Amino acid sequence: MKEEHVHELLFQALETEQGGVQVYKKALECVVNDELKKEWQEYLEQTQQHEQILLGVFDKLGLDSTAETPGREVVRHKGESLVAAMEMARGAGNPQAAQLVAAECVVEAETKDHMNWELIGLLAEEMEGEEGKALKEAHDEVEDEEDEHLYHTMGWARELWIESLGMPAVLPPPEEEKEVQTDIGVGRAKLARKKMR
Ligand SMILES: [Fe+2]
Repeated sequence: MKEEHVHELLFQALETEQGGVQVYKKALECVVNDELKKEWQEYLEQTQQHEQILLGVFDKLGLDSTAETPGREVVRHKGESLVAAMEMARGAGNPQAAQLVAAECVVEAETKDHMNWELIGLLAEEMEGEEGKALKEAHDEVEDEEDEHLYHTMGWARELWIESLGMPAVLPPPEEEKEVQTDIGVGRAKLARKKMR
């Protein structure tokens, strides 16, 4: 295991959660649908917990959570860009369009978040000792929530787009009702939506 790269992943993962908090706060300013609002409020709280869980991992590993790396700066820049994109959309004066942009921004932020945790899970299986244990415990705590954040918001983004195109949408999306947590589940939800319209 390349320790330096393991640490880099953890710095990026922490920055992703911290940026995620800002993304959800801005997305909640753009949301129109009440159910989606409830969902994102819950995801915001969970993202704040994920940040705390990661800070706990940093403590256990004796890592400075404020240390900068070039990769971490890139992650921060991307998070800030997503917030700026939502501000731009909100300023344009079409609330439905701004909500759609917000859903896409959440999907983009959660795509990185999801991959970080997938990698942390793989590392946890390989690493031994206290470090491996700390990663495994953190991963077990957040894994299911990360799946929901990504897959359910992907469903919302798709259905809100379908609605805006004037086609029959399934809201809330089938990913929600079917509690989708895997890529295979997304495929099933897409098949099911055809029957739900
Ligand atoms: Fe997260």
